[in-house]
Amino acid sequence: MNGTMPTLIWRPISYVERLRPGDLFFATQPLEVELGSGDGGFLAQHAAEHPDRNFLGVERLLGRLRKLDRKGLRAGLTNLRLIRLEAAYLVEYLLPPGSVAALHIYFPDPWPKRRHHKHRLVTEGFAQLVHRVLVPAGVVYLRTDDTEYFAQMTRVFAAGQRFTPAETPPALARIATDFEKGFVSRGVVIQRAAYRRLG
Ligand SMILES: C[S@@+](CC[C@H](N)C(=O)[O-])C[C@H]1O[C@@H](n2cnc3c(N)ncnc32)[C@H](O)[C@@H]1O
Repeated sequence: MNGTMPTLIWRPISYVERLRPGDLFFATQPLEVELGSGDGGFLAQHAAEHPDRNFLGVERLLGRLRKLDRKGLRAGLTNLRLIRLEAAYLVEYLLPPGSVAALHIYFPDPWPKRRHHKHRLVTEGFAQLVHRVLVPAGVVYLRTDDTEYFAQMTRVFAAGQRFTPAETPPALARIATDFEKGFVSRGVVIQRAAYRRLG
């Protein structure tokens, strides 16, 4: 924890060296990461259900990160840490290779206009970085309401020999994210996929 007020928000001492999970968490156990954790409804629940795993939530908006911070503190979660950062930077520069058992990417900003596609998180290059940070047989879980972005996600993870399609465990699929609850209440169709690291 940083500062005098209790917080789960973690500030690295260095942004040019890879983080050591042992510096963030009390227990040495498998690490799961959510990129763009938003208000944190998913991660707070998932972390509470799995005290035998560590969880890192990444979000660039401070107000949203603080909501998840309050949820985690209220629940007394010792296996949850949060970082305010660009998700792609964390994956490329801070997460050690072979360190992440599961990566959750739920409703990343779709950037629907063609000229904005370059801002999307899930690209061919990103899939290569995901392969590097996952442990062998680690899994990336994806959800989106955007049909065209979903096609891009499945295309980049299906390309090459890096991943194989995986099932989403029912207990995981059951936890809706905050955005997902809004989509479902409006009848919006949600698409999901998961890919397991090969090699
Ligand atoms: C559509 S919301 C979904 C939030 C949450 N995953 C959910 O399903 O409720 C996308 C979230 O990702 C965050 N975000 C978008 N791009 C990001 C980036 N490059 N790095 C970190 N967070 C990002 C946004 O601030 C926002 O909270």
